[in-house]
Amino acid sequence: MVCPWWLGYFLIGPWRRWKQDPVRILAPHVRSGMTVLEPGPGMGFFTLELLSAVGVTGKVVAVDVQSRMLDRLRQRASRRGLETRLDARLVGGADLGVDDLEGAVDFVLAFAVVHELEAPKAFFEQVARAMKPGATMLLSEPKGHVRRDAFDKELELAASAGLDVQSKPDIARSLSVVLQRTR
Ligand SMILES: C[S@@+](CC[C@H](N)C(=O)[O-])C[C@H]1O[C@@H](n2cnc3c(N)ncnc32)[C@H](O)[C@@H]1O
Repeated sequence: MVCPWWLGYFLIGPWRRWKQDPVRILAPHVRSGMTVLEPGPGMGFFTLELLSAVGVTGKVVAVDVQSRMLDRLRQRASRRGLETRLDARLVGGADLGVDDLEGAVDFVLAFAVVHELEAPKAFFEQVARAMKPGATMLLSEPKGHVRRDAFDKELELAASAGLDVQSKPDIARSLSVVLQRTR
């Protein structure tokens, strides 16, 4: 089930930084000049940090199924002067709308989104195609919503798309892995 748009305001609340500091979480993965794909950004709790980290030569492609999420994300990016690095796309569900990115993405952030998808297999296949060989994805799911066995099923789908577990970062209230495109 897709998270309701009004919950987006809750997810960007400052309280969340105490447990899930976006700077600390993203620092190992994002560098200046990178192309980053963020499926399901919501109103951009992580996106603003991604936009800062990729610098003037990088970009963030953020795809979501809810226009209210993207409208607020664009507004927040624009207030910080970061909108030129943001490519925010409204998509229609199973199609992520990233065919044009084939082999171009350095890093993917999929935070608290895969459990909402109707077609997770197609998701991993499309994302893997968009990634450069060797590129990484941080996949993180909320412990409260996603059980370990369901998370393991997500990892199986990822593996069949060529995305293998590289490491298991410790992120509060989450089940998290870094996946790497290995083929
Ligand atoms: C729980 S929110 C997480 C938002 C953000 N990643 C965070 O951690 O704050 C999940 C987001 O995924 C989006 N979403 C759900 N299904 C999607 C799909 N098929 N494609 C892209 N985004 C989707 C929702 O609209 C929502 O913005």
